[in-house]
Amino acid sequence: MPQLNKDARHSVTLTLNGDEVTGYAEPRMLLSDFLTHEIGITSCHVGCEHGVCGACTVLVDGTVMRGCLTLAVQAEGSTVETAENLASDEGELSELQQAFKKHHGLQCGYCTPGILMSLTAYLKENPKPTEEELRDMLSGHLCRCTGYVGMVKAVLDYCENRTD
Ligand code: FES
Ligand code: FES
Repeated sequence: MPQLNKDARHSVTLTLNGDEVTGYAEPRMLLSDFLTHEIGITSCHVGCEHGVCGACTVLVDGTVMRGCLTLAVQAEGSTVETAENLASDEGELSELQQAFKKHHGLQCGYCTPGILMSLTAYLKENPKPTEEELRDMLSGHLCRCTGYVGMVKAVLDYCENRTD
């Protein structure tokens, strides 16, 4: 009887930020590791690696997902968006990114890509959140640097003045 090879690598093809990419992943490989080490993107950071901090957040088929709680093989055939997708091809920051820059919402910087991806999905559903709603949403991302002050200011300003 043939032995099951648990370590065998599988081909995984997905659409990443508009481009089809293919890499290889063992069945247990996390999407965050796949995107970083197999594909080479730099924005999918890992902190806790168990779904709590939010640093690894990406969009999979438009849904907010933790890269560290998703297996790479599960993303086969899906559309994945990371923070690399937010700026224009010419490198111009999105309006949300510009607001983060203006209000020092970047803070430590390590958590920022995941926060921006969560906000991207959230603000589509809730284009004008109250500060309380926004703080509630942001509580899904652990930040221990400033109490979210800059981020909150940035998002409220963006929501007030956005043209995108
Ligand atoms: S590394 Fe994924 S939620 Fe913390
Ligand atoms: S934004 Fe990273 S710890 Fe606050």
